[in-house]
Amino acid sequence: MPVSQPHLIIATARSTETARWAQEFRNAYPDWKVDEVVPGQPSTGATYAVVWQPDPILFQQEPDLRATFNLGAGVDAVAGSIPAGMPLYRLEDAGMAEQMAEYALYGVLRAVGRFTPYEEQARKGTWKAYRPIDRRQWPVAVLGLGAIGSKIAQVIASLGYPVQGWSRRLREADFPCYAGDQGLKDCVSASRILVNALPLTAQTEGLINRELLSHLQPGGFLINVARGGHLVDADVVEALQSGHLSGALLDAFTQEPLPADHPYWGIASVMVTPHISGITVRDLALEQIGSRIVLLQQGKPASGQVDHTLGY
Ligand code: GLV
Repeated sequence: MPVSQPHLIIATARSTETARWAQEFRNAYPDWKVDEVVPGQPSTGATYAVVWQPDPILFQQEPDLRATFNLGAGVDAVAGSIPAGMPLYRLEDAGMAEQMAEYALYGVLRAVGRFTPYEEQARKGTWKAYRPIDRRQWPVAVLGLGAIGSKIAQVIASLGYPVQGWSRRLREADFPCYAGDQGLKDCVSASRILVNALPLTAQTEGLINRELLSHLQPGGFLINVARGGHLVDADVVEALQSGHLSGALLDAFTQEPLPADHPYWGIASVMVTPHISGITVRDLALEQIGSRIVLLQQGKPASGQVDHTLGY
């Protein structure tokens, strides 16, 4: 019996985005049926959902779904509403890891002041050279060693900065790795720059708080490429105001856009960016999701499946 073609439903938080992804899937896979979510409509009979921050009603509306594909790396916006037995896949790297490594490296360059004096001097026409950065003074902790965190750690380590990583499960890498509660303290205590690339789960929410920051070496720098929910903002602000943190490069926030009256905007040593550290590369996402659907259609396993109990 011939296997029927995949039937997709696209569901994002914005109808224009939903329509754009739907068109791109139709163009890439012309034989597949691709619907766009319309809240409250009867079931389309779709067997695969492709989502970004979908309305949770989707999962009641579409009882025939066999799997859901997230259009990003972090699944926190869908993990809470997806039915327990439904396979959920997230993007793995898909062009985001190198963007995020570049972003984190930019944070490191800001932290160490690699170009800071020259920006000022170039405007004034001053020719004055400084000694090279002593990288040993700027050890870096990378929290989260998935596809993204590992890439960040590798890129920064390749430039001679001492790097250590922390993850839930102990990893093997070319740099020292830590795991567990004590491991987290040890990893951060050995560092002056903290890069957060963790998934947001019940275990990691609020992890970057006063206590953890107190272990970071004085004059430290925080780089957040993950989620706002990892940070206790009041504690970060306090650490910045006291000078324990010399600055921060922050890309994700509990409320986005970051409200105009948020204290981060007013702190000169903080650079806020509008959640751009790793933007989904559309062609690569289409390719990655499409090839996984083909595997599932053939009854084969596909990578990137989220463990519902871990939340990533
Ligand atoms: C972006 O934030 C993502 O999770 O891909």
